[in-house]
Amino acid sequence: MAVKKVKSVFFCSECGNESPKWMGQCPACHAWNTMVEQEVTASEKRSKPRGASERSVPVALSEISLGEEDRVRTGIGELDRVLGGGVVPGSMILVGGDPGIGKSTLLLQACRELSSRGQKVLYISGEESLKQIRMRAERLGTFPGELKLFCETDLNVIGEILKQEKPDIAVIDSIQTMYNEEVSGTPGSVSQVRESTAVLLQLSKSLSISVFIVGHVTKEGTVAGPRILEHMVDTVLYFEGDRHASYRILRGVKNRFGSTNEIGVFEMREDGLAEVANPSEYLLAGSPKGASGTVTACSIEGTRPILLEIQALVCQTSFGIPRRQSSGADLNRINLLMAVLEKRLGLHLGQCDAYVNIAGGMRVVEPAVDLAIAMAIAGSFLNLPVEEGLLAFGEVGLSGEVRGVSLPEQRVAEAAKLGYKVCVLPRVCAERAGRVKGIRLIAVDSVRDAIALIKK
Ligand code: TYD
Ligand code: MG
Repeated sequence: MAVKKVKSVFFCSECGNESPKWMGQCPACHAWNTMVEQEVTASEKRSKPRGASERSVPVALSEISLGEEDRVRTGIGELDRVLGGGVVPGSMILVGGDPGIGKSTLLLQACRELSSRGQKVLYISGEESLKQIRMRAERLGTFPGELKLFCETDLNVIGEILKQEKPDIAVIDSIQTMYNEEVSGTPGSVSQVRESTAVLLQLSKSLSISVFIVGHVTKEGTVAGPRILEHMVDTVLYFEGDRHASYRILRGVKNRFGSTNEIGVFEMREDGLAEVANPSEYLLAGSPKGASGTVTACSIEGTRPILLEIQALVCQTSFGIPRRQSSGADLNRINLLMAVLEKRLGLHLGQCDAYVNIAGGMRVVEPAVDLAIAMAIAGSFLNLPVEEGLLAFGEVGLSGEVRGVSLPEQRVAEAAKLGYKVCVLPRVCAERAGRVKGIRLIAVDSVRDAIALIKK
């Protein structure tokens, strides 16, 4: 019989990188002082690749069904959208997010819908007692289907129960509380989280159970310690939003069965999470009328156009070095746009503080919001509001030119739907969008043309 050798390795608590010796800086993620020592038994390190069950037989591409019918709809439209149409049987889904953002609430609601559609659902909690879950369920309303709850943190027991119950869907809340006797380390440590996920992955594939895993996120924005979790699972969803505001955004970061960067928008209410079918309307609610430095932009999130309100505040700096701050938009992009405005239009922004905010706590990286940001900054600097009912989109280049962006037709259609009257857009996009009822299109070639519209 092989004797289990105990040896220790070092894991980076940020990214899960493994190293045989301690280092001050992790060579993978370059974080300092994050290597932690962990004892590893020899057998555990040799674990064979898991999860290759029935998928390991070669199949002709044409014989594969399109799979729409294979998916199980959760009944929560926004969640289904992010998942790419529903839950794929036997898949593993990681739901990450800050503590208290609403992960347990979302999954309990999903379980309610799934169980009422005849799915066998098992909700395993290592964080709350049965009573606490019951209390949450009370707030959420009635549970018509049969939903089974189980409070446990020992993975061996969970494994037995899963084999015995054979549910269609299982929820593990949260992976940081799970623990595996055979592995050293406390629950939540890198090796525990990694091994627990591997065990669950094997169970999920062999028993064809779809597993939702809840993972808490650290301050740095990664699922606590082990980013490796992201590589092991099929789908990674992040639940984010301002804890002080009531809306929540569910974002797909990785999806083996659908497109990523889809978002789902929810509102946290007294009785749980409600879907927000029209996020643009929601994000634009309460926008000021006739204020300078406010311009609406249109960004494509996944497949959906979403209207956002860009706000800028530009004022003379009272200290030597101007302050630039952004929430929701990329700060480098803002610095670049300010440099373009200064150089190409002669706006003296060099001695100005600038604050840019995307209302509603949305984060946007798409360059299509450039034009609106530039117009908001210039508008605030000149202290002139834009025309009422105006929306702008387009990418701004370093020469001050306005470049085309994808899907102009959809953006214009969304703007028209929400009652916008004027749309400022790149010339190529205007040509593609053609004529749209109820909205006037103003094609621009450069930022100068767009800013001229403010001065009128
Ligand atoms: P929870 O799902 O426990 O968060 P997580 O599992 O991500 O840690 O969400 C808890 C928060 O949601 C808590 O601050 C209370 C709030 N909440 C509501 O506002 N309405 C509700 O109906 C429920 C169940 C929770
Ligand atoms: Mg929770």
